[in-house]
Amino acid sequence: MVPMKNILILGGTTEARQLAGKLSHRADFSVTLSLAGRTESPVAQGVPVRVGGFGGAAGLAAYLREEHVHLLIDATHPYAARISANAAEAASQTGVPIFALRRPVWEPVAGEHWTLVDSVAEAAQALGAAPRRVFLAIGRQEAGAFEAAPQHRYLIRSVDPVEPKLAVPEAVYLLARGPFPEADERALLEQHGIDAVVSKNSGGEATYGKIAAARTLGIEVIMVRRPPLPDVPSAETIDQLAAKIDHLLDPEAERGV
Ligand SMILES: NC(=O)c1ccc[n+]([C@@H]2O[C@H](COP(=O)([O-])OP(=O)(O)OC[C@H]3O[C@@H](n4cnc5c(N)ncnc54)[C@H](OP(=O)(O)O)[C@@H]3O)[C@@H](O)[C@H]2O)c1
Repeated sequence: MVPMKNILILGGTTEARQLAGKLSHRADFSVTLSLAGRTESPVAQGVPVRVGGFGGAAGLAAYLREEHVHLLIDATHPYAARISANAAEAASQTGVPIFALRRPVWEPVAGEHWTLVDSVAEAAQALGAAPRRVFLAIGRQEAGAFEAAPQHRYLIRSVDPVEPKLAVPEAVYLLARGPFPEADERALLEQHGIDAVVSKNSGGEATYGKIAAARTLGIEVIMVRRPPLPDVPSAETIDQLAAKIDHLLDPEAERGV
């Protein structure tokens, strides 16, 4: 009998869930998905899930040892820099191989007006002094940074409610979970008279609609650059990653057959 290989996927993204589903069909893989526990009602993941932080890189390293993990996959969001750094560190401490799933960044295309910034706080400054109508599509965790620019009117979209509400005179809150098609995004931007979109460079299709819609409407995009991420072996798509995993964990491949 082929021994089971334990795979831990650090998730919180659609791709992590899809990858877990794909790998769980393999009789020789035992897949666990790890979530930070930020979302109040996460969508069903289809594989065993563990929830909550590990306690830094050392805690994750201890988990990898205790659970006899053979492979660690970092499929977290590109802005979740701390867990990615911890994953790289824990893999190096334990000798457990690591792969990251990294979506390619969006690149500006002709007709788009991007202003690049390094942080959400910088994005708030980049909106300028004059009042604007701003669509915040950066999630709820960092929305508070825009209290520093209370002159603008905000439309704030998130999966879970922003609590506490922002201390700004004008803010409209919208609860929604992607994917967000371009046509819907365009209608939303028009309905609220938006003249600036603040976005992270998440990559992928699910949340690109707002960027395309902003282009069509001639709206500026304040784009928060990705944080630096550790240099570990990575793939851009689920299929590419699955092929790499096969190669690494396949017993035939291990014997050099
Ligand atoms: N940041 C975003 O824009 C964004 C967007 C969509 C989804 N997400 C997802 O939300 C989660 C949290 O994001 P974040 O920005 O708070 O990340 P972060 O700043 O990199 O992580 C903060 C801490 O949360 C815990 N953590 C994060 N992801 C975890 C996971 N998958 N499993 C177990 N613990 C995890 C770790 O705690 P310990 O140190 O105690 O282990 C980590 O040190 C990530 O899994 C990410 O994929 C983030």
